[in-house]
This record gives sequence, structure tokens and C-alpha cells, in this order.
Amino acid sequence: MQAKGAHPSFTSRLAFIIVTAGSAIGLGNIWGFTYVAGANGGGGFVLIYLLALAFVAGPAFMAELLIGRMGKASPPNAMKTLREGAKARLPWQGVAWMGLVSTILVLSFYAVIAGQGMYYGLVALQGGFEGWAEDAVVGLDASFRDAPLMMAFWSAAFMAATAAIVSFDIRTGLEGAGKVLMPILFLMLIGLVVYAGQIGDMSSAVDFLFGFHDMQFGPRLFLDAVGQAFFTLGVGVGGIMTYGSYMGDDVNMPRATFWILAADLFVALAAGLAIFPLVFASGVDAAAGPGLVFMTLPLIFSDLPGGAFVAFAFFLLLTFAAVTSSISLLSPTVARLEEAGFRRGPSAAVMAFTVVVVSLLTIMSFADWRDFYPLAAIGLDGMTPFALIREGVSNIVMPFSGLAYCVIIGWALKRGDVRAALPMKEGGLFTLWYGVMRFVAPAAIAALFIGAMLG
Ligand code: PHE
Repeated sequence: MQAKGAHPSFTSRLAFIIVTAGSAIGLGNIWGFTYVAGANGGGGFVLIYLLALAFVAGPAFMAELLIGRMGKASPPNAMKTLREGAKARLPWQGVAWMGLVSTILVLSFYAVIAGQGMYYGLVALQGGFEGWAEDAVVGLDASFRDAPLMMAFWSAAFMAATAAIVSFDIRTGLEGAGKVLMPILFLMLIGLVVYAGQIGDMSSAVDFLFGFHDMQFGPRLFLDAVGQAFFTLGVGVGGIMTYGSYMGDDVNMPRATFWILAADLFVALAAGLAIFPLVFASGVDAAAGPGLVFMTLPLIFSDLPGGAFVAFAFFLLLTFAAVTSSISLLSPTVARLEEAGFRRGPSAAVMAFTVVVVSLLTIMSFADWRDFYPLAAIGLDGMTPFALIREGVSNIVMPFSGLAYCVIIGWALKRGDVRAALPMKEGGLFTLWYGVMRFVAPAAIAALFIGAMLG
């Protein structure tokens, strides 16, 4: 039990690691990583992605956790407390509020994609996909995207599940969901990799992901790799900050971060090793784009032994991964509403409803607004509202907030306070870490922005 009125915390170190890894591991690892790696030709992209994780997104992730741990409140109030302590003049809370708006924007497309995953799981459960031809699979995706009401229904179903979990206190809801869903997710994923190794073309997949073949290191690849690194860790919108505030005092943050990053990386690579062997064995194009998991996998499952069952397992996996992330996206606004005196249940319900309303932008982008480019006049031609939301958050808001977090930890707060909060001993390792936080990560993010502007 916790003292009433005290800021809540997870029950143990392991619980913190599991729940935070659950936030990091999501659609980004399975749906996102595979299609972006596929579209960028594999090996070289994976290398840049690893470097971006280690030196840019990883440090920003630690900075966000640390702000949560030191501020012990919802993102706007955590930022406010730290800003007052540092006597800084810049409006740090602005970064936090931008993050809260972004959580709703991310959820608005996350719910639609996860909803499609749930729907496909149901189709698989009914014995679907078995013996389907290509036009049937493509047709299913097309008919789903042509039916706004259907998409809205599944998005709402997904958000209802998310809100139900978040409405409990954090130990019952967030922690309970993570402890149940994450082990199942790992087991299913390992099972799928073994299955893909037996049925598919594993050596081509390994060569594609880790081999060095003729690659194009253009600005697009860098932007995609860094954006993917930020999105997959979920840095820059306040979800991680909120979980950082629930971190027990006994958690060794550097060590916990190591395990969370390792788990996130493991799931992305394992998803690649589960999906690409099947892709290569079937002759489907690895560069098929965002539809990779919806348009190609059912086709592959359709003529595999036990395909319907494997398809069901895969889409269930996708849904579980999505839920443990969406609860971290709904948590910051709910935490802020709680501070304003509202109860968790109604707060979660209201925010989930808001998400469903905003998700109509993505739903319409997939349906009647396929050719509607609202910002074409300022040069963003060809981008639907969905594309603007997805790329605006991953490629602009997240790196910008990451930059702000690193500068706050590296420059605005006192070195001794930061070291004590980690906690880390004074010495070579801390000096190295602090140097990355002060110089390497901010410089890399700034270079990315300048590069993107010039490109
Ligand atoms: N990291 C999650 C994923 O890879 C998405 C996410 C973004 C989670 C922002 C929390 C905050 O799917």
C-alpha cells in the first residue's frame, strides 16, 4: 500500500522495466520497423537506426525519464517544478503541453492501425485467409479503408480497452496489463520467429537485415532512421516522463534503461526475423510500404500450414503490443486531469472519446480524403492529414522535445543533482554520459533539423 496523497509508484524495479518496455514496444516495432526497414533496403538502415538509438534517441529517453523522476508529477507540472528550481526563464511547460497534444495526435492514428489489427485477428479467428488469393487480401484492406464507420468502430473498441486499463490505479491497470501481456507477447514472437525459420527463407532475411549490400545513404534514410528511433522509444510526448514519475526510488535508472532499450531492439529485430523470411519465401516486395503487415502477411499466411492460427497469433501480438503503448499515451493527460481534481475513470473516458473524434482525420485520410492535401499550398503536397500528423509528430515534435529534454538535463539543471537522481557515481562513465547529454545528442538533433531544412 502507498501513503494516501503520495505520488504513486510501480511495485518493483522489474515492474517498472516491464511496463516501460511495454510503452516502447508497440506498433512502431512490428508495423513500423518492418515497413521502414523494408522500404530503405535493410542493412544500412538498420546500422544507422542502431547508432541513432544509442547516441540520440536513447539519451533523450533517459533525459525524459529523469525529468519525470525529478519532477514527480504530470509532464506540465514536473516541468514547472524543475523550471522553478532552476530559476529558468524559458517556458519549459510549453514543451510539456505540446507533448500532451501530441499524445492525442499519436493515439488518433495508433487507434486506427491497432483497430485494423484487431479486425484482422477476428477475420483470422473465423478461419479467414486460408486459401485466399491476392485480390481477396488486397480487397479486404481496401474494403476496410473504404468504410469509415467500420474503422471508427474498431478505433473506438481499441480506445475503450485502453481507457478501461488506464481507469484503474496505476498498479492494477498499467502494471497489471504489462505483467500479463508482455510475457505473452515475447513468447508469441519467439514462436513466430521459429515458425518463420522453418517455413520461410531465414538466410535471405538475415542477409537483408544485417548484410551490407548496395545501399543508398541519402538524407531520407537518415531522417527515417532517426524518426524511427524516436518513435520506437516513444520519446518526446510525455508518456515516458509520466512513467518516470512512477519509478520507485530503488530503481537504478541507467541499468533499467539498458534493459528497456535492449528489449525494444530485440522485439524490432525479432519482428523482422519473423516477417522477412515469409516475405522472401513468397516473393512479396519487401519495400511494399505501410501496408506490409496488412496486405502481404495475410496472403503469406493463406497458404501456410496452420496459417489461420498463425495469422490470429500474429494479429493478437500486434494488438497486445499496441495496447501496452497506448496506455502510456493516455496516461499523461489523465495524470494532468487527476491533478486538477478529476477521477481517473471519467478522465480516461473523456480523453479516449477525444481521441476517437480526432481519429476521424486519419480515418478520412484512408477513405474519402485520399487525395486531400490540406497543406499543399505551403509545399507539403501529397500529404494527407494522416501523413501530416504521423510525420509531424515523429520527425518534428519528438526530436524537438528530445533536444529540449537533453538541454534541460545537460545544461539547465545542476550536474550534482542530475548525478544523484540517476544515481551514478562520479567517474569516467558519468562524465561520458553527461558529455553525450550536453553535446553529442543535441548536436546530432540540431544537425538533423538543419539537414532536413536544407534537403
Ligand atoms: N513506442 C511506441 C511504438 O513503438 C509508440 C509510442 C509513442 C509510445 C509515443 C509512447 C509514446 O509503437
